[in-house]
Amino acid sequence: MTDETPVQVPTVRPRRLRRTPALRRMVAEHHVVPSSLVLPVFIREGLDEPRPISSMPGVVQHSRDSLKQAASEAAELGLGGVMLFGIPEHKDATGSGGIDPGGVLNLAITDVVAEVGDQLTVMSDLCLDEFTDHGHCGLLTPDGEVDNDRTLVAYGQMALAQAAAGVDMVGPSGMMDGQVRVVREALDAAGHSHVSILAYSAKYASAFFGPFREAVDSSLQGDRRTYQQDPANAVEGVREVLLDVAEGADIVMVKPALAYLDVIRRVRDAVDVPVAAYNISGEYSMVEAAAANGWIDREAAILETLTSIHRAGADVILTYWASEAARLLRR
Ligand code: PBG
Repeated sequence: MTDETPVQVPTVRPRRLRRTPALRRMVAEHHVVPSSLVLPVFIREGLDEPRPISSMPGVVQHSRDSLKQAASEAAELGLGGVMLFGIPEHKDATGSGGIDPGGVLNLAITDVVAEVGDQLTVMSDLCLDEFTDHGHCGLLTPDGEVDNDRTLVAYGQMALAQAAAGVDMVGPSGMMDGQVRVVREALDAAGHSHVSILAYSAKYASAFFGPFREAVDSSLQGDRRTYQQDPANAVEGVREVLLDVAEGADIVMVKPALAYLDVIRRVRDAVDVPVAAYNISGEYSMVEAAAANGWIDREAAILETLTSIHRAGADVILTYWASEAARLLRR
């Protein structure tokens, strides 16, 4: 370009609305609010002190005491809820620790409900993988296949144990066919019709779950591809969601979030129930690792991540950054 090149003067200037922070704030289309964030928390049986999870810097396996503290902090920050995951001291083939009323997760539900049940929605993972010695989300047949229909029986029992412990909302996450219906029927038949269901509906067999394995001391060999979805499939994600709504899901979820923003959008457009998304362990740890190396602005990356998931269509976001994000949003 020379000095003689005529300057093109635009008549339309989108940049005008980006000029000042106040203008940008005023025209922002999407706002993440603490009340739509849910903090996933891990509680491990037999701990006196919280134990760091090395694959997820900043996240811990809680003791009973530290879990209560984390839950009351979440309540003070105005979060929407907490999602509890329990890690038993002893795992077995049938995951009996998940059904035992004295099991770590069921006790934790009662603890957290007593602590903050009037301020937060208390949710629990309803799946066997944290409790089985083989690490699969269901019971196995003698030749090692995940047995869908026998697993459903166990999920129904687990739902009843969680409801008896006082949970507000159960999160069936094992991707067994028919799991929402079985859980709904079990709850209703036992007088727990007020307990709601957050269905992990479109859950993909994702490499990004990697860091979670350490968080729950998982012993899984192999993968979950016969029950979790193929990352190539978006239409199938919508199908799974529609089935879960028909079976009685109160909220449907897409998981993971970041590599599946298109699925979140399709689901948001396809159903008339709230849509949740799970900003999972690998999504968390990638940002934490890059930030620890000085390669990324950590706080900006956290808020951009959550805003993007919300913009894609998620009404509720499960994220390990929930408490911290609530603090950042207050600023
Ligand atoms: C199954 C469950 C998993 C996660 C939540 N529920 C593990 C899996 O399906 O492999 C992963 C959460 C995360 O990676 O943050 N109980």
